[in-house]
Amino acid sequence: MDIHPDIERVIVSQQVIQARINELAAQISADYAENGQLVVVGILKGAFIFLSDLTRRLTVPHRVDFMALSSYGQTATTSGAVRIIMDLRVNVEARHVLVVEDIVDTGYTLHYLLNVLRTRNPASLRSCVLLSKPDRRKVDIPIDYVGFEIPDVWVVGYGLDYAETHRTLPYIGMLKPEVYK
Ligand code: IMP
Ligand code: MG
Repeated sequence: MDIHPDIERVIVSQQVIQARINELAAQISADYAENGQLVVVGILKGAFIFLSDLTRRLTVPHRVDFMALSSYGQTATTSGAVRIIMDLRVNVEARHVLVVEDIVDTGYTLHYLLNVLRTRNPASLRSCVLLSKPDRRKVDIPIDYVGFEIPDVWVVGYGLDYAETHRTLPYIGMLKPEVYK
């Protein structure tokens, strides 16, 4: 596999990501088998690749919708301020909702989002995240499905960006320090 010249190290390879998504999709499909229609809510932009691979492997009926939330800006900060940039188009009341997010870092984003969605009275509300950085957590949130726990490093690829670059790499990697300058 060719590694992009900006990447210092691959944290999760393409093969390992794909194998884990098979497991997550099988688990989610089993868990929702009796529940009827599921609404999968992808959080833009970071979750778009994960969401597309995951949902194509679900064997339960589902709809897909998206939300966009404000993030950190161009690079990491510790601000807990989150707001909705684009809202859902489907009504989730009395529906089973699964939020799909790229990564949980401090937890502020998912915490805010789950609170907002809960006020809309879904039949159930769960979350699925590809990556979690447990060492960075500021607010405790329930995550129902986690792809991988990773250390406290900034990662890119498979939907995740650094200042909007490197989102479409097929693996999760760590940038070389000189790329940040
Ligand atoms: P949280 O609110 O601190 O949990 O941050 C969640 C959001 O921060 C994610 O949806 C990402 O957009 C972004 N983020 C956090 N860590 C990383 C990273 O290592 N690479 C890329 N984006 C990240
Ligand atoms: Mg994100």
